[in-house]
Amino acid sequence: MTKIIELINLKKEYKTPKENLEVLKGINYSFEQGKLYAIKGHSGSGKTTLVRILGLMDDLTSGEYLLYNKTTKSLSDKESSYYRMKHIGFIFQEYNLNPYLKAYENVIVPMLINKKIKPQNRLSKAENLLSDVGLFERKDHFPKELSGGEQQRVAIARALANNPDIIIADEPTGNLDKKNEKIIFKILKQMAESGKCVIVVSHSDEISSYADVNLLLEDGLLSEVKK
Ligand SMILES: Nc1ncnc2c1ncn2[C@@H]1O[C@H](COP(=O)(O)OP(=O)(O)O)[C@@H](O)[C@H]1O
Ligand SMILES: [Mg+2]
Repeated sequence: MTKIIELINLKKEYKTPKENLEVLKGINYSFEQGKLYAIKGHSGSGKTTLVRILGLMDDLTSGEYLLYNKTTKSLSDKESSYYRMKHIGFIFQEYNLNPYLKAYENVIVPMLINKKIKPQNRLSKAENLLSDVGLFERKDHFPKELSGGEQQRVAIARALANNPDIIIADEPTGNLDKKNEKIIFKILKQMAESGKCVIVVSHSDEISSYADVNLLLEDGLLSEVKK
């Protein structure tokens, strides 16, 4: 399996007026394509910190984050947003849809900075992605006209807009019931089966049965747990 992400002695510290808070204490781990990784850990253990670094949304303090064997350390803001656009789709607990845009328009947003997608192809791509998550009929709905589960499926379609090879979801079902949780986990599993590297932070016990690899973030370190 191809290694996509490699973390070498990754550390993250938050400097606050009172103290230096060491959240990630030297993580060594590699993520491969075609697998679903589930990350658990108690509240405040640093899960969001870790996945925001993986999503190139935050800097690390020391160590290395290699993406396709290339360091991400010296990336300018412009380069890291290009990398994000090209490689990474991020899914948030709160969906983070633009309330003023219809479902299909939300899915189109990430395509606007992708020169490889011709403007005349954006709409059909968005419609296909919404079909994939079972929402073609809802494409003209605004977020407030959708259920929580539907909004999260729109957010998943949006995360897939530029066909990234890494999907990161931070507690994607935190606001959803069990039925919708299953639907979301199934879609994430399908994405891993189609070859993407899927990393899911979740408190749900349900995720273990979908995951190829179960990880625990504890005391600032990441380790595999047996099923
Ligand atoms: N920007 C920040 N500045 C200072 N401390 C932070 C910041 N973000 C998170 N923290 C602290 O880092 C720890 C880990 O937070 P987080 O990654 O959000 O944990 P989790 O997602 O596992 O609940 C917490 O103690 C939190 O208070
Ligand atoms: Mg969190």
